[in-house]
Amino acid sequence: MDISGKTIVCGLIGDPVEHSMSPAMQNAAFRELNLDYAYVPFRVRGEDIGRAIAGMRALGLRGLNVTIPHKMAVIPFLDGLDALAGKIGAVNTIVNDGGTLTGYNTDAGGFLQPLLERGFNPEGKRIVVVGAGGAARGITFALVDKGARLVMLNRTADRARALAEQLCQHYPQGAEGMELNEHNLAESSANADMIVNTTSVGMGASSNETPIPRQVLRRGALVYDIVYNPLKTKLISEAASAGCVTISGAEMLAWQGALAFEKWTARKAPIELMKREVIRHLRNED
Ligand code: ATR
Repeated sequence: MDISGKTIVCGLIGDPVEHSMSPAMQNAAFRELNLDYAYVPFRVRGEDIGRAIAGMRALGLRGLNVTIPHKMAVIPFLDGLDALAGKIGAVNTIVNDGGTLTGYNTDAGGFLQPLLERGFNPEGKRIVVVGAGGAARGITFALVDKGARLVMLNRTADRARALAEQLCQHYPQGAEGMELNEHNLAESSANADMIVNTTSVGMGASSNETPIPRQVLRRGALVYDIVYNPLKTKLISEAASAGCVTISGAEMLAWQGALAFEKWTARKAPIELMKREVIRHLRNED
């Protein structure tokens, strides 16, 4: 649909934004449903974040995605926060309802959707999460919020313990944090229903590495790697050959976009198209 005086505008703020797949994915979804919406990227520097949100109000933008490094910094400028986004302390999606801005975290919901698509309900499941950085935060809160029992393993053990402590403050069943080493990995993975990699190991230049040695991967377990570039990480390849069910970060990426799309448009997102768009974009990058 051509841009007109009636076009509803959404976008992305971050720094950098030029490699983002969101414009291609969101605009393809708008076209598919014949919606008079457009999605544009905005590079915003850290010191300009408050003015960017004021600009969102002044320009009447319907929605924004927020990416690195602004996911925490936008919060003081919003009018309200979704409960889970508040616990996580990070927002990746803003909805503007007639001048009232609400922050959501669709990274968390986007992580869960591929599990639900496979009929995997996290409630009561034993899950090992490797990594305790920014990406782990949304994922671990999403999982514990659904009643999962977590063991978190991180190279810097104190970071895993600190995140576990914060989870325990919000959820009674909480989580345990430990050092990432072969012994702890083997012990925690032995009876785990799912193992999740939230670290950057296996991405880009480290594509010949895996954060989880092959010998701990058990047939039938789910292995979820949030790395999406390359599409088939070493972890995903080894897990598939060990007989695990595998989920790639590309699915999470498409779903976080789909959930944002649904908040802005109140329409069901064309998720299969959005997944294809992410994969097409990633293949072109190789
Ligand atoms: P993000 O926001 O993408 O999660 P981050 O906050 O820098 O980025 O966290 C990166 C995660 O990957 C951390 O858990 C980090 O471990 P440390 O806390 O010990 O730094 C983990 N990580 C990065 N490189 C790693 C490596 N080579 N081996 C193990 N863990 C690694």
